[in-house]
Amino acid sequence: METKFKSVEIVGTGFYVPEKILTNFDLEKMVNTTDEWIRTRTGIKERRIAADNEATSDLAIAAGRLALSNAGIKPDEIDLIIVATLSPDMLFPSTACLVQKNIGATRAVSFDIEAACSGFIYGLSIAQQYLQNGTYKIALVIGAEVFSRILDWQDRNTCVLFGDGAGAAVLKEGENGKGILSVQLGTDGSGADLLKQPAGGSRLPASHETVDQRLHYLKMDGREVYKFATKSMVETVMKVLSKIGLSTRNIDLLIPHQANIRILECVAEKLGLPMEKVFVNVDRYGNTSAASIPIALSEALKQGRVKKNDIVILVSFGSGLTWGATIIKW
Ligand code: ACO
Repeated sequence: METKFKSVEIVGTGFYVPEKILTNFDLEKMVNTTDEWIRTRTGIKERRIAADNEATSDLAIAAGRLALSNAGIKPDEIDLIIVATLSPDMLFPSTACLVQKNIGATRAVSFDIEAACSGFIYGLSIAQQYLQNGTYKIALVIGAEVFSRILDWQDRNTCVLFGDGAGAAVLKEGENGKGILSVQLGTDGSGADLLKQPAGGSRLPASHETVDQRLHYLKMDGREVYKFATKSMVETVMKVLSKIGLSTRNIDLLIPHQANIRILECVAEKLGLPMEKVFVNVDRYGNTSAASIPIALSEALKQGRVKKNDIVILVSFGSGLTWGATIIKW
C-alpha cells in the first residue's frame, strides 16, 4: 500500500459526556414533538446536557485527561493542543488556552479551530502536519461542544437533534505505513446560510433586538443540510480512498459524524457497506458536532470494534459548509 504521508498515529483516546440525560419523552413536554417522530426521522433516543456549572472547556478537559491517561502521556509532554468547537466557553480567550492551563500542559502551544462538525478532522489534519514536519512531537486534539447553550429550546426543528459532549485523541509520530494514511478536506462557503448562529459576532453584535429575535440561537435549513450531508460524505470517502489506491472493500470500520441515522444508512448504502461496518451511537448522544467523531472513535475502540491493522475511515460534514475524511490504519 502506498502511503502518501509519513505516518502519524493516534496513541490514546478518551471521551466525556455530561451525566444528565434528556430523552425524547422529556422533549415531548418542552416542544410540540413526539418520541416517535424523533426516533423515526433521526434515530435519536436521548442526548446528554451539560450541568449549569459545566462549560465546553470542562468537558474538553475531562476527555483530554482520559486520552492522555489512555496514551500514557503526561501533560507536560504535550507540545500542541487543538480544540475544535463552535460553542466555546467565550469568544476569547480560546477554549484551548483554558484546557492547557487546567490540564497542566505548560509547554503546549494551544489554539481553537472552528469548522463545525468537521472540526475534529480538520484538527487532526493540522496536528498531522506539525508532527510530520517535526515541529512538534506530541499533540492533543479535542472536539468539544455544549450545544445546549446555543439551541433554541422553543424550536422543534433543531432542539431535538443535538447534545453535549467531548472526545479527544493523542497523536504521535508513528511507524511508516500505519496511522493517518490519507486526508481529504473540503469547504463551500456558498452554503454558509444553511446552518448558522446569526448574532453575537461582529455582523450582529449582541443587543436587546437580537436577543428578542432569538438570533443567538442555531438556525438551520434541515432539508438542504440533509442533501449536502449524504452527497458530501459519499464523495469524500471515495476521494480519500482513491488518494492511496484503496476501495470501499478495504474499509473495516466507517466512523461517520453522528447527525441522523437516515443519513448514515443512506451513506452506507451508496458506498455498498453493510451497517455492521458503520459505527453508530447517535441514538444515545444525538449530534454532538465537533465532539461526535472523537466520541465515536473512542467508544469504538473501547468496544473492541477496531483491531490491529484495520482500515478505519472518519468522515464528517458541517456548517460552513465544511467536510472532511481521514483514513487511519490501526
Ligand atoms: N417533531 C415533530 N415534527 C417536526 C419536528 C419535531 N421535532 N421537527 C420538524 N417537524 C415537522 C416539520 O415542521 C415538517 O412539518 P410540515 O411538513 O408540516 O412543514 C415535518 O416535520 C417534516 O419536516 P422535514 O424537514 O421534511 O423532516 P425531515 O424528514 O427532512 O427531517 C431533519 C428533518 C431531521 C432535520 C433532517 O432534515 C436532517 O437530519 N437534516 C440534517 C440536519 C443535520 O445533520 N444538521 C447538522 C449539521 S452538522 C453541524 O455543523 C452542526
